[in-house]
Amino acid sequence: MASGITSHHAGAGRMASTLHTTQTTQMKIGILGTGNVGRTLGTGLIGLGHEVMIGSRDAAKPELQQWVADNGAGASAGTFADAAAHGEIVMLCTSWSGLENAIALATPANVAGKVVLDVTNPLDFSQGTPPRLAVGHTTSGGELVQSWLPDAHVVKVFNIVTAAFMVNGRFAEGNADMFIAGNNDDAKRVAAQIVTAFNWNCHDLGGIEAARILEYYALLWIVFGFRTGQWNHAFTVVRK
Ligand SMILES: NC(=O)c1ccc[n+]([C@@H]2O[C@H](COP(=O)([O-])OP(=O)(O)OC[C@H]3O[C@@H](n4cnc5c(N)ncnc54)[C@H](OP(=O)(O)O)[C@@H]3O)[C@@H](O)[C@H]2O)c1
Repeated sequence: MASGITSHHAGAGRMASTLHTTQTTQMKIGILGTGNVGRTLGTGLIGLGHEVMIGSRDAAKPELQQWVADNGAGASAGTFADAAAHGEIVMLCTSWSGLENAIALATPANVAGKVVLDVTNPLDFSQGTPPRLAVGHTTSGGELVQSWLPDAHVVKVFNIVTAAFMVNGRFAEGNADMFIAGNNDDAKRVAAQIVTAFNWNCHDLGGIEAARILEYYALLWIVFGFRTGQWNHAFTVVRK
């Protein structure tokens, strides 16, 4: 696990504690997924000085090769297994329908003991838009991922906004809020380091079961967009 990260942080059992991190540590990061999310996070993380490998079923696919060409020496491409092995931190950025297969191709041994940041949402578009959640109430995508990777430290993060905003939480009214959930406090400190480096206020919602809330929170973002016809929003906590 990456070292040298400082934070003032309450544990998983407490309500929505705010994480303040101050230090950035250069890390190797593996990203599973070549869509907007994987490529946007990859570019943002390279901008922070990290070394990023994006993994795919087809490392030669044109959009991935273009991403490598556009992002300089810190960028590389490989298979899902290559990216998982490369990363001290591994980020899950595939479609929900492809996630279990991508994890199998990456092989759980390649992420054992590592921080795994789950950015996916279990979206079901089979009944049109807005989508529904494929799982919820009694479990969540995040919990399923943790069960598929029992030796990894899974943290749900960045799933509540569109890809383009993930790498910059600064909005006209100020920095917006990003929520994380996971069972391991050290892993959440690593997640919080990245979240705050991307200008988000970071709040810890507790254990990975809080992914049930965060995956619905993603639907709130999506339905709000469909209802307003605008897609430039994020949500933030205000207090009296
Ligand atoms: N787009 C957003 O703004 C946004 C915002 C928040 C959260 N999310 C979530 O983030 C995730 C990624 O979204 P996205 O729009 O960037 O990409 P996406 O189109 O949902 O997923 C693309 C990736 O999924 C992989 N994939 C698809 N089917 C697969 C299969 N059968 N086996 C293995 N891998 C498979 C593809 O692998 P190959 O490279 O091999 O083709 C590709 O890397 C999704 O879970 C989404 O719900 C998206």
